[in-house]
Amino acid sequence: MQIKEFVAPLFVCSLLLAAGCSTGGGAAAVSTTSTSTTTTMTTTTTAATTIANLQPYADTTGTVATYTGAGVIDLNNHFFLPLGTNGRTCASCHQLNQGMSISAAATQALFTSTAGRDPLFAAVDGANCPTAADGDSAARSLLLSKGLIRVGVTLPSTAEFKLTVTHDPYGCAITTSATGQQTVSIYRRPLPSTGLPYASAVMWDTRETAQLLTMASTCAQNLTTDLTQQMIDAVSGHAQGNTTPTTAQITETLTLMQGFYTAQATDTAAGSLSANGATGGPANFAALLYYPGINDAFGGDPTGAPFNPAAMTLFNSWRNSTNAAQASINRGQGVFNNSPMQITNVRGINDNAALGSPANLRGTCTTCHDAPNVGSHSLPLVMDTGTTRIATSETDPGILAGTARLTASDLPVYQITGCKDATGKAVTYTTTDPGKGLFTGLCADINRVKVPSLRGLAARAPFFHNGSVDNMPQLVNFYNARFQMNLSQAQQTDLVNFLNAL
Ligand code: HEC
Ligand code: HEC
Repeated sequence: MQIKEFVAPLFVCSLLLAAGCSTGGGAAAVSTTSTSTTTTMTTTTTAATTIANLQPYADTTGTVATYTGAGVIDLNNHFFLPLGTNGRTCASCHQLNQGMSISAAATQALFTSTAGRDPLFAAVDGANCPTAADGDSAARSLLLSKGLIRVGVTLPSTAEFKLTVTHDPYGCAITTSATGQQTVSIYRRPLPSTGLPYASAVMWDTRETAQLLTMASTCAQNLTTDLTQQMIDAVSGHAQGNTTPTTAQITETLTLMQGFYTAQATDTAAGSLSANGATGGPANFAALLYYPGINDAFGGDPTGAPFNPAAMTLFNSWRNSTNAAQASINRGQGVFNNSPMQITNVRGINDNAALGSPANLRGTCTTCHDAPNVGSHSLPLVMDTGTTRIATSETDPGILAGTARLTASDLPVYQITGCKDATGKAVTYTTTDPGKGLFTGLCADINRVKVPSLRGLAARAPFFHNGSVDNMPQLVNFYNARFQMNLSQAQQTDLVNFLNAL
C-alpha cells in the first residue's frame, strides 16, 4: 500500500561515478560562442536541409536554443520526416523554437496560418475527440488554448479501483472494449524531447520506462530501450503509422534526439545566460554531470553524498552583478534553492513510508527539483502536488489554496472508488488525470506524475502536465499559496526571472 519503488535498487550500487546516462554528447560543450545562424535565414527557394548548432529562436523573454551532439541538425533525419500516415513528424509536437515542446501561442498562430490544416491538428489526438471535423477550432479547444494532446490510456483489468466519469464535456472520456477494458482520455502537454540523458523516467506517468533509469551502469542502455518503445508507440499513435519504423530509422532518430540539449540562451534584459561566469544556456546544459540519484533529496545518492539544497548553481557568479536583471536572476535562484516551503499532503512524499511518511516536510523547490541544474527529480519518484484536483471535492487547505490559482481547462472529470487511505478508511478521488495509477491500476499511484526538467521553460508555456498555469507569475503564485511560502512580491519577481532564464 505504501510507495517505495525508487529506493531499493540504489543502495546496492556502490561504485557509481560520473557519466551514467549523461553520455549524450555534451562532453566538450562549454563554449559560449554560437555558430553562424545564416543557414535558416537563406532567401533562396531551396529549403534548408540543416539547422546550425545553437540556432537561437525568439521566445517570451529572450531566445531559446538547442545544442546538438551532432554539431549540426540534419532536417533529413527521421525526427523531422513523416513516419506514419497523417503527415506528422516528431517535430509536429516537439519544435526547436518552442523548447522541444509546443507553446499554446504558437499553436494558435499555426492554426490560423494553415486554417487548421497542419498535421498537428489531426483529429486522432490533436482534437478533444477523434471524431472532430477537419478545421473545426471549437473541437480543438484544448490543443488551441493549452497545447494539450489527447492521450488514451487503457486501465488494466486487474486495477485495484473502479473508475467512472462524472463530467464528460466532449463525449469521449471513456471507451469500453467488447471485453470490458476501459480506455481513458486524458489531455497532456508534450514533454520536451531534449536533455533526455538526464531523465529518470519517460512520460509524465512514467509509462514508457519499462527498463528503469535508476542505476548508472544500466542507465544509458535502458534509456535507449525505453525510447525505442516510446518512438514505436509515437509512430503508431500520434502519426497513425501502419508499419513499425525500421531499426535504422529508430537508431537515426534516437541518436539525434538523445544528443539534443535545449535551454534558454539569452535573456532580453540580462543578456547571454553564459556571460560573466554564468553557466546557463544549452552548451553548458549539455556538459552537466548527471547520474541516477545525483543529489537525491531523500538520501538516495548512490555515492552517499548528502542532499545539497543549492541544486541550482548556474547564476552564482551574478551575485554582485551591476546588471539589475542579472542580479535579479541570481536572487531568484536563491529563492528556488533556499526559500522554505511547507510540503504537506503531497501523495508520493507525505504518505511515503520509505521516506518516513512525514506529515509536514519543511523543504524548498529543490526538495522535488533536486537534479543539479536540470530541475527534474534524479530518481523516478512520482508525486501528486494537487494539480489534477477539483476544488469542490477537496478539503485540504493547501490543495484548495493551490487549485484556486490554477486555470483548469474544461477537462473530463473522473471519480475513483475502491481505495483506502493509510488508516484503512475508504477514499474517493476526483481527478482530471489519474497519472501513473491509470496504467498501473494501483491506488498508491493515483494522480502521481513525474517531476519534469525545468530547462527551456520560457519557450513552452503553459505549464504543468495539464497546462493549468498559463505563465510564470501564475506558476509562482500557485506554489506560494499551495506550500505557504509567504514570498514577497520582489521575491516572486526574482523567481519568475530565474525560471525564465533556465
Ligand atoms: C501529436 C503530438 C506528438 C507527436 C507527433 C510526438 N509526440 Fe512525443 N510527446 C507528446 C506528448 C503529449 C508527450 C507526453 C505524453 C505523456 O506523458 O503522457 C510526449 C512525450 C515524448 C517523450 C517523453 C519525454 C520525457 O521527458 O519523458 C519523448 C522522448 C517523445 N515524446 C519523443 C517523440 C518522438 C521521437 C516522436 C516522433 C516519433 C514524437 N515524440 C512525436 C506528443 C507528441
Ligand atoms: C512537492 C514537490 C515539488 C515542489 C516542492 C516543487 N515542485 Fe515544481 N513540480 C513538481 C511536480 C510533480 C511537477 C509536475 C506537476 C504537474 O505537471 O502536474 C512540477 C512542475 C513544475 C514546473 C512546470 C514544468 C513544466 O514543464 O510544465 C515548474 C516551472 C516548477 N515545477 C517549478 C517549481 C518551483 C519554482 C518550485 C518552488 C517554488 C517548485 N516547483 C516546487 C513537484 C514539486
